[in-house]
Amino acid sequence: MNVQAFDLRDDDRRPPVDDLVGIVQRGLRARPKRLPSWLFYDERGSQLFEAICEQPEYYLTRCEIALMAAHAGEMAEVLGEDVRLVEYGSGSALKTQMLLAHMHAPVSYVPVEISTEPLRLCVQDLAVRFPQLPVQALHSDFTRALRLPIPPRAPRRTVLYFPGSTIGNFDARDATSLLRKMRGEMGDNGGILIGADLKKDTATIEAAYNDKAGVTAEFTLNMLVRLNREIGSDFDLGAFRHRSHYNAMAGRIETFLVSARDQRVRVGRQSVPFAHDEAMQVEYSCKYSPADFAALAGKAGLEVIRAWTDPQGMFAVYYLMRAGTRARLAQ
Ligand code: AVI
Repeated sequence: MNVQAFDLRDDDRRPPVDDLVGIVQRGLRARPKRLPSWLFYDERGSQLFEAICEQPEYYLTRCEIALMAAHAGEMAEVLGEDVRLVEYGSGSALKTQMLLAHMHAPVSYVPVEISTEPLRLCVQDLAVRFPQLPVQALHSDFTRALRLPIPPRAPRRTVLYFPGSTIGNFDARDATSLLRKMRGEMGDNGGILIGADLKKDTATIEAAYNDKAGVTAEFTLNMLVRLNREIGSDFDLGAFRHRSHYNAMAGRIETFLVSARDQRVRVGRQSVPFAHDEAMQVEYSCKYSPADFAALAGKAGLEVIRAWTDPQGMFAVYYLMRAGTRARLAQ
């Protein structure tokens, strides 16, 4: 099946190469230098992320799948009948399938994904497993305002599914704006089912981002491989190292590419100096206690209706609706 052969709405508004050079140059002018984490996800980066999810230290995926295995039935019950399920990203087919298997008469499933290959694979898998389910793939960047396809029949509600703790990759301000945008997209009666990693001891968290096999380090360095290929920069791959540490005060893993020596890197027409041991920030992975997450949701005009966590307190899935819903339902 090729991209044209399935129900795909193409709304790809990614920046052209010139803009990418500008984005990187701007990030390298900042102090400390920083590059956006979405740059990880070219084809190789997406494969490496899949491999990270299988590393013994990376507990997030395993724990979220276990939560779905234990509670997907209850989640589907809370979502209700005739739901349009919109997923932010489509790399998590397994979790989505666990949810869909319990949902009552879903109106449609809309995976929103910037990379066409995972989108195609997701649609293909679902067509086999759920032949009756209308799937309306949307090729788009979920951080932008979505132009959702017209559903095949009127849904009772739209639920945005955002698993994987990807919300943690946005700092507090951006996470609030993203949740606020989602609040608009789901409408008055809609909901958000969202997975978020929980705060826990530093050693467990740091091990997850420093796996022994070095897959996370390769994932981080792949950002430079991508930039060299796509914008013609000349990052010396042997002269940067992956570093991830947990900032307990801020409640987040901070990942850097660290320069192993004094060096200059050409980016477009600029030659950018890096000092020995200079750290360029490439990713945050924020961790939330249930109370932190409720406060974040509150800032976006949302409230936690239900929360599911495992007995070890490793990971959480929350169902959010507009603030005031609980009081309204109680009347
Ligand atoms: C996609 N995201 C939730 C992952 C995380 O845990 O922050 C990305 C990742 N980065 C390094 N390992 C995994």
